[in-house]
Amino acid sequence: MKFRFIGAGVVAQTIARHLLQFGHEVLLSNSRGPDTLADVVSRLGRGASAGAPQQAADQDVVVLSVAWARVPEALAAIPDWSGRTLIDATNRINPDNPGDLGDLSGPTSSEIVAEQAAGASVIKAFNTIPMQWIADASPEKPKTVLFISGDDASAKTALGDVLEQVGFAAVDLGTLAIGGRQQQIGGPLAGLNLTLKDRFVL
Ligand SMILES: NC(=O)c1ccc[n+]([C@@H]2O[C@H](COP(=O)([O-])OP(=O)(O)OC[C@H]3O[C@@H](n4cnc5c(N)ncnc54)[C@H](OP(=O)(O)O)[C@@H]3O)[C@@H](O)[C@H]2O)c1
Repeated sequence: MKFRFIGAGVVAQTIARHLLQFGHEVLLSNSRGPDTLADVVSRLGRGASAGAPQQAADQDVVVLSVAWARVPEALAAIPDWSGRTLIDATNRINPDNPGDLGDLSGPTSSEIVAEQAAGASVIKAFNTIPMQWIADASPEKPKTVLFISGDDASAKTALGDVLEQVGFAAVDLGTLAIGGRQQQIGGPLAGLNLTLKDRFVL
């Protein structure tokens, strides 16, 4: 599959390395243009490229991996989100006061993302763990649980299949409203490290 990233930092590069190991293609984008990503693309190697955010959204599966404060501008750069799967890896953190999560009783963070990407099938994924926990992208890596939530069952199944294929255990928590609240920052599953250290066959 082809995965397009809006945001080309720690999250995008870590996930890209896992996908590339298994033959998927990735395109990374940032706000400063593809030329600024030449070194990143060269380090990632075969199957990786860089483009503009608008190019990233040309494809069916787009991963949103920008800081929460940059989400509105990143989503607004794409005029029409209909028909796309948007994987939301963001965490709703205020950089000026990361310890204060604010009022979490309203819409979940991915519901807020979905409102700003009308027509997209939004799936919350990758947000619950620091990327250093999955820094090992080798085929022998330990199997880590990744939670996913979303309102489009078939889009979640497709993502879950890819996650399993590249060596994670995907756990579907339900909708953005219910599962999203469990896995968003401040929820009970955020920061939970569930990793099978030694693979075994039952
Ligand atoms: N780091 C982790 O371990 C981790 C784990 C789970 C979830 N998260 C969440 O995932 C998100 C990304 O985290 P990160 O650690 O990858 O951040 P990061 O390393 O700072 O990367 C953010 C990327 O977004 C790009 N960007 C900023 N504005 C943009 C725009 N308008 N359009 C396109 N690209 C834009 C930045 O590049 P330019 O500034 O050059 O445009 C940069 O490449 C955050 O919401 C974070 O809370 C992080």
